[in-house]
Order: sequence, then C-alpha cells, then structure tokens
Amino acid sequence: MKVGRVLRFTLAAAAAALLAALSAGCGSSSEWEPQSGEALREPAQIYPKHGVAKVELKAVRGKIKVAGSEIEAQPFNGTLIGPTIHVHPGQRIEATIHNATAEDTNIHYHGLHVSPNGISDNVFRDFDPNGTFTSIVELPNDHSPGTYWYHVHLHGLTEQQVMGGMSGLIVVEGLEELLPKPLRDVRQRQLAIRDVQAEGDAIVMKDEHISPVKPSTWLVDGQLEPNFELASGETQLWRLANIGADRFYEIGLEGIPFTVIAQDGSPVWRTFQTNRLALPPGRRYDVLVQGGEPGTYSLRSLQLNMGRGKQAARDLATVEVTGPAAAPYKPLPRTLKTPAKPLNSRRIAKHREFVFTLTDFNGDFKALINGELFDPEVSNVAPLLNTVEEWTLVNRSNEDHPFHIHVNDFQVMEVDGEPYRAPGLQDVVVIPRDGGEVVIRVPFDDFPGHFVFHCHILSHEDAGMMQAVDVIRPGEAPSPPPQGGHSHMG
Ligand code: C2O
Ligand code: CU
Ligand code: CU
Repeated sequence: MKVGRVLRFTLAAAAAALLAALSAGCGSSSEWEPQSGEALREPAQIYPKHGVAKVELKAVRGKIKVAGSEIEAQPFNGTLIGPTIHVHPGQRIEATIHNATAEDTNIHYHGLHVSPNGISDNVFRDFDPNGTFTSIVELPNDHSPGTYWYHVHLHGLTEQQVMGGMSGLIVVEGLEELLPKPLRDVRQRQLAIRDVQAEGDAIVMKDEHISPVKPSTWLVDGQLEPNFELASGETQLWRLANIGADRFYEIGLEGIPFTVIAQDGSPVWRTFQTNRLALPPGRRYDVLVQGGEPGTYSLRSLQLNMGRGKQAARDLATVEVTGPAAAPYKPLPRTLKTPAKPLNSRRIAKHREFVFTLTDFNGDFKALINGELFDPEVSNVAPLLNTVEEWTLVNRSNEDHPFHIHVNDFQVMEVDGEPYRAPGLQDVVVIPRDGGEVVIRVPFDDFPGHFVFHCHILSHEDAGMMQAVDVIRPGEAPSPPPQGGHSHMG
C-alpha cells in the first residue's frame, strides 16, 4: 500500500512537472521571436588566395539563431545568409559542398558568365544527401564586376531550399575601379534581403506550405530591421540583392536617392538616380548613396502590386544619418567605363517568342512557357554559338514574372511596344502581368552547352516555368540536357 501510494504520488508529480515543462516550452522556447534593431552584421567574407576563392559550404537542417531567437532552418554554414564569396575576373571559385541534409540539392552561381558544363555552373547536377561535391567556376578576364549570388537550383525543391536559407552573395571585384578616384575607397555595405515564413520555431520548408498570402518576416543579412550609420555628406556603396525565394520588394530611403552604378552585376553605361528600386527575386543593384540631413531614415520596401493584390510598405532597416555634415559631397559619376558592350548594332540571328502562363490543373498549380512544363529531357532552344538572338517575352497571366537566363546577360530593347533605352545589361527582367511584353537581345558569344532560363519566382520555376537551352556549334544537333538523375517535382 505504502509503495503504491508513493508511486502514485511520484507519477502524479512527474506528470505535473512534464505538463509544466511542456506548456513553458510552448509559451517561450518553441516560438521564433525575432528581435529588431540590432546593429547590422554582414555575412562572413571569403577572399581569394593565389587566384582561387576557396569556399566550404555545409548544408544542415537544424536550429540556428536568427534575429536573436532560435529557429529551424536549412542554411549554408549555420547562418541564414551564406558567406560572401569575393573573386576577381580571371580567377576561379572552388566550392566544396557538404550536403548534410536529408534532401538532394545542388548549386548555381546566379549571373556569372561562366561555363555551364561539367562541374562548373551546371544546374543539372544532383548532390545526394550525405555527399561531398566539388564545384569549380572560372571567370573570364573580362568578367563584369559587381554583385552576384549563389543558391540551390534543384528543380522541384528550389523554392523550399532557398526559403530554408541556402543562398549567399558573390562579389566580383573591380567595380570601385570604374568610379572616379575620390569614390574608390568609399565604405561598402552588403544588404542581402530575403523573407522567411515561419511556423512555430521552424522556417516553412515544404513548398506546398509556402504561400504568398501567409505572413512572412523580411530580413536584411539575416536580421530584422537592423540599423547602420551613414554620415551626413558621406558617400557609401550599397550592394542590394534579393536572395529570397519568391517575394518582390521596391526599395526606397525616404527621399535619399540611389545612384545606380551596376544592375545584376553589370556596371551601367550611364548611371541614373532614383528613389525607387524594383527588386524582384534574383535582382541586384549596386548603388551610391549620400547621407543628407542628419536624422533617422528607414530603408523600406514601398507598397507594390505584382498581381497578388497590394503588398504593404514595410521597413527593412534603419539608417542613422549622423551629422553635422563634414565633408563636401563628392561628385557622382554620370558614365562608367564598363566592359560590357551594347547589343544594338549586333546582327540578329534568330527571333523567338516565349509566352508565360499560369494554370490550374484540377487544383494542381502549373506555370508554363509556350504551353509546356519544364522537361528535364528536352532542350527547347538551341542557339548557335557566337550569335545574338532577339526574344519576345509575353506575359498572359495576372502575375508579374521575373524572367532570368543563366550564363549570358541580356539587353532590354522594348517594354510593352515602346523602345527602351537600357542603362546596361542585366540578368533579370520583369515581364508585366496581363499581356505585358518585353523584347530582349541575348548574346551567345561563348560557352556552348546546356543551361536554363526561367521565372525567378521560385514557386513558378518549381511548378514548371523553365526551359533548357543548348548552345551549339554550327553543324551540331541539339542534345538533351545532362541527366542529374531523379525528378524532384513536389
Ligand atoms: Cu538565380 Cu536559375 O537562377
Ligand atoms: Cu541564374
Ligand atoms: Cu513567374
């Protein structure tokens, strides 16, 4: 009897203790509670040695601290933004990727003008769980300097893995050297923007649960509304990049203009000033910013609409403009000596048209190009090496689609039937919804082989809005893309 009573008492006490522990857990430690207002911390930086930028990227799913609070993520190297890889034109990146996750994955160097073949920027590769993979890209000597990024690119899993954190920045060095001397050593800031959708204490990493209408948290360098300083009269070079999965931003700084010196890693032929920078997924801007009147300014995403209704304005970061103004403002450049050549006078070898649509097959969302889903066994387009093609991109859906092509930057020639005076080359362009049309010229001057173009809303890419390109030599027949193995269609 005595033993029984003690046991009963002990069990009851244990149960009570367990319940208390559980409810405490629910109330505090199992909710992600991001803290805003920390000082901006930039990602880890990898610099080249003896002409090689060596980087180790380890992907693991697990709890990490994001904005001061624990959350489950699947990033590279334990932080929500991977290390920034610095590399000079003519050098190479050697990446060792450890896939310690339970999913297949791979890597893509967005915007780099490098070979798409073999173990270079080949998105048809497939990195199995628990494997270690090498990826080496060699940049040509005349590679454009500016801001690029890397991310996973496995068709069917791209959105959820980028949402989980698998992306980071690349800086191709040399942009400062294109600026007038007094501006070459200005302070630089890397501002990589992504959003995360969280449920409890985990980032949502199942594509069917990621939704454009669910609340999401917008982060700059993995922080919530961080703050940083800019002195009144000081010039800084900001590298703005959208390294998230699906969301668009429209960046403004309360009346302080941005002077754009490069877009998508391509230094512009003519700089321009603007108070609004459209930042669809994948896009980057290198801008000069000058501190105005001392005070607190918010770097924010302005209200926008890309077809899913209005997205409200929201603060991304706080900029303290400190005073009083000391230095006189340095004059900003109007033109840059960029290595990229305009394509206006190139002969057009071929015209093509691509129509972007969205459909619902019995509740199954599909995103199509020319009525077709991505087929990993088909090269849809086979341009001839050393030619320029003119492509008309048509949007017959009610959402904007940010078009992106690998390997080769393009020039926008026309938007909605009007001639467009491009400030430079780029690798992402928004095709406006409801019948919008964009005409681009794409040079296939080097790098034969297979790569892709697609919508950079990664849920659309995963849902089929992608095609394979095979750049062939004269006399060659197009071949299907290399087979990375299995399908990852969710
Ligand atoms: Cu950001 Cu297919 O790439
Ligand atoms: Cu890309
Ligand atoms: Cu799209």
